[in-house]
Amino acid sequence: MPVKTVAVIGAGASGLTAIKCCLDEGLEPTCFEKSDDIGGLWRYKDQSEDERASIYKSVIINTSKEMMCFSDYPIPEHFPNYMHNSKIMEYFRMYAKNFNLLSHVRFKTTVSSIKRSPNFATTGQWIITTEKEGNQEIALFDAVMICTGHHTFPNLPLYSFPGIQKFKGKYMHSREYKVPDNFKDKRIIVVGIGNSGGDIAVELSRTAQQIRKLVQLRPKSPSVSDTGVIFEDGTVEENIDAVIFATGYSFSFQFCEESVISVKSNKTSLYKFMFPYHLEKHTLAIVGLIQPIGAIMPISELQSRLATRVFKEMYVESQRHTVQVDYVEYMDELATLADVKPNLFRMFLKDPQLALYVYFGPCTPYQYRLTGPGKWSGARGAILTQWKRIIKPTQTRILENGSVDKSIPLMLKICAVFIVLTALFLYC
Ligand SMILES: Cc1cc2nc3c(=O)[nH]c(=O)nc-3n(C[C@H](O)[C@H](O)[C@H](O)COP(=O)(O)OP(=O)(O)OC[C@H]3O[C@@H](n4cnc5c(N)ncnc54)[C@H](O)[C@@H]3O)c2cc1C
Ligand SMILES: NC(=O)c1ccc[n+]([C@@H]2O[C@H](COP(=O)([O-])OP(=O)(O)OC[C@H]3O[C@@H](n4cnc5c(N)ncnc54)[C@H](OP(=O)(O)O)[C@@H]3O)[C@@H](O)[C@H]2O)c1
Repeated sequence: MPVKTVAVIGAGASGLTAIKCCLDEGLEPTCFEKSDDIGGLWRYKDQSEDERASIYKSVIINTSKEMMCFSDYPIPEHFPNYMHNSKIMEYFRMYAKNFNLLSHVRFKTTVSSIKRSPNFATTGQWIITTEKEGNQEIALFDAVMICTGHHTFPNLPLYSFPGIQKFKGKYMHSREYKVPDNFKDKRIIVVGIGNSGGDIAVELSRTAQQIRKLVQLRPKSPSVSDTGVIFEDGTVEENIDAVIFATGYSFSFQFCEESVISVKSNKTSLYKFMFPYHLEKHTLAIVGLIQPIGAIMPISELQSRLATRVFKEMYVESQRHTVQVDYVEYMDELATLADVKPNLFRMFLKDPQLALYVYFGPCTPYQYRLTGPGKWSGARGAILTQWKRIIKPTQTRILENGSVDKSIPLMLKICAVFIVLTALFLYC
């Protein structure tokens, strides 16, 4: 059954690009956004709101504008390379306006439940329940894109800090931190060495009396008295006014049946961090549930492009070849994980002959023995002689003078030169 209607949950960076990609594929998106505006995490408010990601006032993105933009809408050239959050919001508003995305968003509408329809195995459809200003609505959709972010629910590991309940000062999670003003001349402890912990400690160091940053607390955390902190090495910091837990986030999909997506300690099992493996129909995709060393937005965009193509059943369902992979891509992927993938660029500099064989030759398994754990000293030789071994069994005709016919290798050499030249011409 062809997919037409798509429920997009959330109108942050991921949701916006999901709507756009649905439109590009001729699908009909309806985006449900629980707040009254787009932008998700990047829409700064002076007070953190329940169940919406929250940032502090000074946040500057740590991914550059050319690396974080959506692929068909460059960030204006006069915008700084590393933007303040207000500029990022400006960009998202421009993107939404340019592609007319807002007309597909229903604001102040919370998705409270998504369930497989009774005939899901054949239709792949979903029953979506939404709530707006006390009114509940139920609707059927052909597909769902969950774009609810994963920096919303604070990880507050109070259990690791015995005595914290007696602490007379203030303790809070970094999502509640907004500006340094309230911490002037205070003595503060920041827990966590992620980007939030680093940024907040630096910002507070300009106004606070003393900052102490806690890193590598595990496995043993300090204990807390009513006014101070006792570290595992025995040192004591007294008269602490505030402890800021910059200890990251947990994620969950409470609106979704556990049999569809289950999350335990921030671990879930999804194909490419997107599709629940076990569903009969792949009409549900999670977008933006990724922690890259780099920007999330272009990944959310490509995930959305892939999801909408999957929804449109570009990939025919059949029992045959359900575990099919592309040999080279899959081998490279496994080799990368096993740290045995050869670095071609370095090889071109160090051993150009071998590099030419690896690049232009067949992807024989020896190349995954050239480097890394399990490296084999015979791998280079095996690659350089692979054509010899291929040709050998074909040389069955014994010539009268006893020598083998040299014409086949010569022909192959000429072909190889021709292939190399053609490949160089095409790649340069
Ligand atoms: C302090 C901080 C700084 C960061 N800096 C960077 C950076 O420099 N570069 C980078 O790439 N990433 C950064 N990130 C990561 C950030 O999460 C992403 O940049 C981006 O905001 C993810 O967008 P999203 O749309 O997936 O999620 P969000 O921005 O969280 O948006 C989710 C949306 O879904 C809505 N929603 C949630 N549940 C429901 C529901 N049940 N029904 C309806 N609507 C719902 C929410 O209201 C929200 O609008 C940072 C994160 C933090 C915390
Ligand atoms: N644009 C920016 O400049 C900017 C600013 C802030 C945040 N961000 C982004 O926002 C996201 C969240 O960052 P974040 O810094 O808030 O969270 P984070 O990256 O998850 O870091 C959390 C930190 O808290 C520590 N921690 C967690 N539980 C702990 C415990 N029980 N005891 C001691 N330490 C504990 C973690 O240590 P372990 O490593 O041992 O778990 C880690 O150092 C990231 O994507 C980040 O890049 C970006």
